[in-house]
Amino acid sequence: MTETNPRILLARRPKGAPVPEDFRLEEAPLPDPAEGEVLVRHRFLSLDPYQRGRMDDAKSYAKPVALGGVMECQAVGQVAASRDPRFKEGDWVLGGYGWQTFSTRPAQALIPIDPKEAPPSTALGVLGMPGLTAWVGLTDIGQPKPGETLVVSAASGAVGQVVGQLGKIAGARVVGIAGGQTKCDFALRELGFDAAVDHRGDLVAQLDATCPQGVDVYWENVGGAVQAAVFPRFNDFGRMVMCGMIAQYNTASGAAAAGAPPGPNLGPVVRKRLRIQGFIVSDTGWQRYARFRAEVLGHIAAGRLRWKEDVVQGLANAPQAFIGMLEGRNFGKLVIALD
Ligand SMILES: NC(=O)c1ccc[n+]([C@@H]2O[C@H](COP(=O)([O-])OP(=O)(O)OC[C@H]3O[C@@H](n4cnc5c(N)ncnc54)[C@H](OP(=O)(O)O)[C@@H]3O)[C@@H](O)[C@H]2O)c1
Repeated sequence: MTETNPRILLARRPKGAPVPEDFRLEEAPLPDPAEGEVLVRHRFLSLDPYQRGRMDDAKSYAKPVALGGVMECQAVGQVAASRDPRFKEGDWVLGGYGWQTFSTRPAQALIPIDPKEAPPSTALGVLGMPGLTAWVGLTDIGQPKPGETLVVSAASGAVGQVVGQLGKIAGARVVGIAGGQTKCDFALRELGFDAAVDHRGDLVAQLDATCPQGVDVYWENVGGAVQAAVFPRFNDFGRMVMCGMIAQYNTASGAAAAGAPPGPNLGPVVRKRLRIQGFIVSDTGWQRYARFRAEVLGHIAAGRLRWKEDVVQGLANAPQAFIGMLEGRNFGKLVIALD
């Protein structure tokens, strides 16, 4: 093959919000799969908030991307060459790696996907890591009951849209928080949430109006001002699912941004017997992937669950799309489509 492997590297570690100069596009030679490996031609790359953390050289649950290394992500693609009997050329797989056009992967790290079941890009969204995150966090921690109020932040995003719809299926009253009228309308009309709150408006007044019975489950995707406004509304035995705090990813060590309101007073955790629990989907999620996928495919087939993707064309546009996601410019699950 005379093809090359265009890819995007981490050129330098960002100071605060990432800028285009933190990334570098280069043409690398096409990698060769070793025995037991597969060469995957990426068709879709998944851009996710956790990749911001991988750009910092800080202690975390996963290693940072090395300076000059390929930016991390999951990819869906087709087998271009196989040195393992489980895969043949043309098979669709989830498990490609990196902001690049090709990757070589051990065959056991790949999950075969059937494009007849759902469009392949959904393996990065509703049927992939973000959907699995929603399912794991609600099953293990949130556990919404019929009639309870579930509030979810970043409600129109990859995780939030699935959280809210699974909450509705469980019988909860769902209030979504999102940035701007268009995203709020989407949460109400397309996702079927009961109410929507625009965090760019008067959060407190809107939460007063939409959560008159208080909050039983809060799904935290954002942190900062949104968290401070929701927290005091918890009912007794409320559950706070600590999934992420994207509003704080660009500040040193995840602290609240300068000028942000102070974090909530945690005193009510005792008085109200609240449960606050963080989780990382990869701890136990992928072991349950088959069950999750079957369940969610069932909801989709029955018309109970929808999804929205934000598809950006071309590898070269990945840095700008990623920067935009950290500012709320994506609308739905952000994926990069490669030619
Ligand atoms: N724990 C885990 O295992 C796990 C797994 C996956 C994801 N996560 C976390 O889940 C959260 C959502 O991820 P996602 O993939 O679904 O992303 P996403 O919601 O598709 O995209 C990010 C959204 O966050 C909101 N946002 C960005 N900056 C913000 C700010 N400063 N203040 C308020 N909102 C802001 C924006 O929505 P609005 O315009 O609506 O504000 C933006 O569209 C992230 O915190 C992520 O790190 C955790």
